[in-house]
Amino acid sequence: MTYMEKFLELFKRDLTTERLDLRILEPTMENAQIIWDVIKNENPEDFQYMWYSVSHKSHLPESVEETQERMKLDSEFKNGCVYYIFHENKFIGYMRIHYWPESRTIQCASVWFIKSAWGHGFNKEVHNKIEHLAFNRLYANRICRQTMAGNTASKRSIESSGYHLDGTDRQSNRLPDGTYMDHLWYSKLASEYQEQTSKKEN
Ligand SMILES: CC(C)(COP(=O)(O)OP(=O)(O)OC[C@H]1O[C@@H](n2cnc3c(N)ncnc32)[C@H](O)[C@@H]1OP(=O)(O)O)[C@@H](O)C(=O)NCCC(=O)NCCS
Repeated sequence: MTYMEKFLELFKRDLTTERLDLRILEPTMENAQIIWDVIKNENPEDFQYMWYSVSHKSHLPESVEETQERMKLDSEFKNGCVYYIFHENKFIGYMRIHYWPESRTIQCASVWFIKSAWGHGFNKEVHNKIEHLAFNRLYANRICRQTMAGNTASKRSIESSGYHLDGTDRQSNRLPDGTYMDHLWYSKLASEYQEQTSKKEN
Protein backbone atom coordinates (compact mmCIF):
# COMPACT_ATOMS: atom_id res chain seq x y z
CA MET A 1 0.00 0.00 0.00
CA THR A 2 1.38 3.45 -0.92
CA TYR A 3 1.48 6.29 1.61
CA MET A 4 -1.31 8.04 -0.30
CA GLU A 5 -3.49 4.92 -0.20
CA LYS A 6 -2.90 4.69 3.54
CA PHE A 7 -3.88 8.35 3.95
CA LEU A 8 -7.10 7.82 1.97
CA GLU A 9 -7.95 4.67 3.92
CA LEU A 10 -7.52 6.44 7.27
CA PHE A 11 -8.95 9.85 6.45
CA LYS A 12 -11.38 9.67 3.52
CA ARG A 13 -14.23 8.26 5.58
CA ASP A 14 -16.68 9.47 8.18
CA LEU A 15 -14.97 10.16 11.52
CA THR A 16 -16.27 10.90 14.99
CA THR A 17 -14.91 12.88 17.90
CA GLU A 18 -16.29 13.16 21.43
CA ARG A 19 -19.10 15.54 20.36
CA LEU A 20 -18.90 15.75 16.57
CA ASP A 21 -19.52 13.75 13.40
CA LEU A 22 -17.17 14.50 10.50
CA ARG A 23 -18.95 13.35 7.36
CA ILE A 24 -17.78 12.96 3.77
CA LEU A 25 -20.70 14.13 1.62
CA GLU A 26 -21.24 13.59 -2.11
CA PRO A 27 -21.89 16.86 -3.98
CA THR A 28 -25.56 16.14 -4.61
CA MET A 29 -28.23 18.84 -4.68
CA GLU A 30 -29.80 17.23 -1.60
CA ASN A 31 -26.55 17.57 0.38
CA ALA A 32 -25.96 21.10 -0.94
CA GLN A 33 -29.40 22.01 0.35
CA ILE A 34 -28.45 20.79 3.86
CA ILE A 35 -25.38 23.06 3.88
CA TRP A 36 -27.15 26.01 2.22
CA ASP A 37 -30.09 25.89 4.66
CA VAL A 38 -27.56 26.63 7.43
CA ILE A 39 -25.14 29.07 5.78
CA LYS A 40 -27.87 31.22 4.22
CA ASN A 41 -28.57 32.44 7.78
CA GLU A 42 -24.92 33.39 8.47
CA ASN A 43 -23.44 36.88 8.04
CA PRO A 44 -20.63 36.65 5.40
CA GLU A 45 -18.80 39.46 7.24
CA ASP A 46 -18.20 37.05 10.14
CA PHE A 47 -16.09 35.00 7.70
CA GLN A 48 -13.92 37.86 6.49
CA TYR A 49 -10.65 35.92 6.91
CA MET A 50 -11.53 33.05 4.59
CA TRP A 51 -13.21 32.21 1.30
CA TYR A 52 -15.67 29.38 0.97
CA SER A 53 -17.43 30.76 -2.12
CA VAL A 54 -16.67 29.92 -5.75
CA SER A 55 -17.22 33.38 -7.23
CA HIS A 56 -15.24 35.23 -4.51
CA LYS A 57 -18.00 37.86 -4.64
CA SER A 58 -18.80 37.05 -1.02
CA HIS A 59 -17.05 34.99 1.66
CA LEU A 60 -19.82 32.39 1.59
CA PRO A 61 -21.85 30.96 -1.33
CA GLU A 62 -24.84 33.06 -2.30
CA SER A 63 -27.16 30.28 -3.51
CA VAL A 64 -27.74 26.56 -3.22
CA GLU A 65 -26.35 26.17 -6.76
CA GLU A 66 -23.08 27.89 -5.77
CA THR A 67 -22.92 25.70 -2.66
CA GLN A 68 -23.20 22.58 -4.83
CA GLU A 69 -20.56 23.94 -7.22
CA ARG A 70 -18.20 24.43 -4.28
CA MET A 71 -18.95 20.91 -3.03
CA LYS A 72 -18.14 19.53 -6.49
CA LEU A 73 -14.77 21.30 -6.57
CA ASP A 74 -14.00 20.00 -3.07
CA SER A 75 -14.84 16.41 -4.04
CA GLU A 76 -12.30 16.43 -6.89
CA PHE A 77 -9.10 16.64 -4.81
CA LYS A 78 -7.03 13.48 -5.27
CA ASN A 79 -4.75 14.10 -2.28
CA GLY A 80 -7.23 15.39 0.24
CA CYS A 81 -10.69 15.34 1.69
CA VAL A 82 -13.39 17.58 3.02
CA TYR A 83 -15.34 16.96 6.20
CA TYR A 84 -18.79 18.41 6.79
CA ILE A 85 -19.02 18.73 10.56
CA PHE A 86 -22.25 17.87 12.39
CA HIS A 87 -23.19 18.38 16.03
CA GLU A 88 -26.31 16.63 17.30
CA ASN A 89 -27.13 15.90 13.65
CA LYS A 90 -27.02 19.56 12.67
CA PHE A 91 -24.47 20.87 10.15
CA ILE A 92 -22.12 23.35 11.92
CA GLY A 93 -18.81 23.46 10.10
CA TYR A 94 -16.33 22.48 7.42
CA MET A 95 -12.74 21.33 7.20
CA ARG A 96 -10.44 20.48 4.29
CA ILE A 97 -7.12 18.68 4.59
CA HIS A 98 -4.45 17.49 2.15
CA TYR A 99 -1.59 15.01 2.34
CA TRP A 100 1.85 15.48 0.78
CA PRO A 101 3.42 11.99 0.97
CA GLU A 102 6.89 13.11 -0.23
CA SER A 103 7.31 15.15 2.96
CA ARG A 104 4.90 13.07 5.11
CA THR A 105 2.99 16.29 5.76
CA ILE A 106 -0.71 16.80 6.45
CA GLN A 107 -1.83 20.28 5.45
CA CYS A 108 -4.94 21.69 7.13
CA ALA A 109 -6.21 23.87 4.32
CA SER A 110 -9.42 25.42 5.58
CA VAL A 111 -11.71 25.27 8.58
CA TRP A 112 -14.79 27.19 9.66
CA PHE A 113 -17.79 26.90 11.94
CA ILE A 114 -21.10 28.75 11.95
CA LYS A 115 -21.05 31.60 14.45
CA SER A 116 -23.18 29.90 17.11
CA ALA A 117 -20.59 27.08 17.22
CA TRP A 118 -17.58 29.32 17.95
CA GLY A 119 -15.90 29.20 21.33
CA HIS A 120 -16.99 25.69 22.29
CA GLY A 121 -13.61 24.09 21.63
CA PHE A 122 -14.90 22.40 18.46
CA ASN A 123 -11.94 23.53 16.36
CA LYS A 124 -9.54 22.02 18.88
CA GLU A 125 -11.56 18.82 19.07
CA VAL A 126 -11.46 18.31 15.29
CA HIS A 127 -7.73 19.01 15.09
CA ASN A 128 -7.02 16.66 18.02
CA LYS A 129 -8.62 13.88 15.98
CA ILE A 130 -6.60 14.77 12.86
CA GLU A 131 -3.41 14.85 14.94
CA HIS A 132 -4.14 11.45 16.46
CA LEU A 133 -4.72 9.81 13.06
CA ALA A 134 -1.84 11.65 11.41
CA PHE A 135 0.83 10.94 14.01
CA ASN A 136 -0.28 7.65 15.57
CA ARG A 137 -1.74 5.85 12.55
CA LEU A 138 -0.35 7.41 9.35
CA TYR A 139 3.05 8.16 10.95
CA ALA A 140 3.15 11.59 9.32
CA ASN A 141 6.12 13.75 10.29
CA ARG A 142 4.39 17.11 10.25
CA ILE A 143 1.03 18.88 10.29
CA CYS A 144 0.86 22.42 8.99
CA ARG A 145 -1.86 24.97 9.68
CA GLN A 146 -2.38 28.49 8.40
CA THR A 147 -4.33 31.65 9.02
CA MET A 148 -4.58 35.27 7.98
CA ALA A 149 -2.67 37.49 10.39
CA GLY A 150 -5.76 39.45 11.49
CA ASN A 151 -7.73 36.36 12.48
CA THR A 152 -7.33 36.51 16.26
CA ALA A 153 -9.63 33.55 16.97
CA SER A 154 -7.84 31.27 14.54
CA LYS A 155 -4.37 32.37 15.66
CA ARG A 156 -5.29 31.78 19.29
CA SER A 157 -6.75 28.35 18.52
CA ILE A 158 -3.65 27.27 16.56
CA GLU A 159 -1.12 28.69 19.02
CA SER A 160 -2.82 27.31 22.13
CA SER A 161 -2.77 23.88 20.44
CA GLY A 162 1.04 23.92 20.53
CA TYR A 163 1.90 24.86 16.94
CA HIS A 164 5.13 26.60 15.99
CA LEU A 165 5.02 29.73 13.82
CA ASP A 166 7.18 28.84 10.80
CA GLY A 167 6.86 32.02 8.83
CA THR A 168 4.87 34.73 7.12
CA ASP A 169 3.81 35.16 3.52
CA ARG A 170 3.79 38.92 3.45
CA GLN A 171 0.63 40.57 2.08
CA SER A 172 -0.37 37.40 0.24
CA ASN A 173 -4.11 37.87 0.87
CA ARG A 174 -6.07 40.50 -1.02
CA LEU A 175 -9.17 41.50 0.93
CA PRO A 176 -12.43 42.70 -0.65
CA ASP A 177 -11.64 46.32 0.27
CA GLY A 178 -8.44 46.11 -1.80
CA THR A 179 -6.04 46.01 1.17
CA TYR A 180 -3.52 43.23 1.70
CA MET A 181 -2.94 41.00 4.71
CA ASP A 182 -0.09 38.69 5.76
CA HIS A 183 -0.61 34.92 5.90
CA LEU A 184 0.88 32.94 8.80
CA TRP A 185 2.15 29.37 8.50
CA TYR A 186 2.40 27.07 11.54
CA SER A 187 3.48 23.47 12.04
CA LYS A 188 3.73 20.70 14.61
CA LEU A 189 6.25 17.88 14.20
CA ALA A 190 5.68 14.26 15.21
CA SER A 191 8.37 14.60 17.88
CA GLU A 192 6.62 17.68 19.34
CA TYR A 193 3.27 15.86 19.31
CA GLN A 194 4.72 12.91 21.23
CA GLU A 195 6.34 15.26 23.75
CA GLN A 196 3.12 17.26 24.26
CA THR A 197 1.02 14.09 24.58
CA SER A 198 3.29 12.50 27.16
CA LYS A 199 3.34 15.77 29.17
CA LYS A 200 -0.51 15.79 29.18
CA GLU A 201 -0.59 12.17 30.37
CA ASN A 202 1.82 12.76 33.26
C1 LIG B 1 -11.38 30.38 13.94
C2 LIG B 1 -12.42 29.35 14.40
C3 LIG B 1 -12.35 28.15 13.46
C4 LIG B 1 -12.07 28.93 15.83
O1 LIG B 1 -12.93 27.87 16.18
P1 LIG B 1 -13.43 27.63 17.67
O2 LIG B 1 -14.08 26.29 17.69
O3 LIG B 1 -14.22 28.80 18.11
O4 LIG B 1 -12.08 27.58 18.47
P2 LIG B 1 -11.91 26.83 19.85
O5 LIG B 1 -13.21 26.94 20.63
O6 LIG B 1 -11.37 25.47 19.57
O7 LIG B 1 -10.88 27.75 20.55
C5 LIG B 1 -9.60 27.36 20.81
C6 LIG B 1 -8.88 28.47 21.56
O8 LIG B 1 -8.99 29.72 20.87
C7 LIG B 1 -9.61 30.69 21.72
N1 LIG B 1 -10.49 31.55 20.93
C8 LIG B 1 -11.53 31.16 20.14
N2 LIG B 1 -12.12 32.25 19.61
C9 LIG B 1 -11.44 33.34 20.09
C10 LIG B 1 -11.56 34.75 19.92
N3 LIG B 1 -12.52 35.28 19.14
N4 LIG B 1 -10.67 35.57 20.53
C11 LIG B 1 -9.69 35.07 21.31
N5 LIG B 1 -9.53 33.74 21.53
C12 LIG B 1 -10.39 32.89 20.92
C13 LIG B 1 -10.38 29.90 22.74
O9 LIG B 1 -10.55 30.63 23.94
C14 LIG B 1 -9.46 28.72 22.94
O10 LIG B 1 -8.36 29.06 23.74
P3 LIG B 1 -7.91 28.13 24.97
O11 LIG B 1 -7.79 26.72 24.43
O12 LIG B 1 -6.62 28.70 25.39
O13 LIG B 1 -9.04 28.26 25.95
C15 LIG B 1 -13.86 29.96 14.42
O14 LIG B 1 -13.83 31.13 15.17
C16 LIG B 1 -14.41 30.27 13.02
O15 LIG B 1 -14.99 29.41 12.39
N6 LIG B 1 -14.23 31.54 12.55
C17 LIG B 1 -14.74 31.98 11.25
C18 LIG B 1 -14.05 31.30 10.08
C19 LIG B 1 -12.55 31.40 10.14
O16 LIG B 1 -12.00 32.47 10.33
N7 LIG B 1 -11.91 30.25 9.97
C20 LIG B 1 -10.47 30.12 10.11
C21 LIG B 1 -9.78 30.31 8.84
S1 LIG B 1 -8.02 30.09 9.09
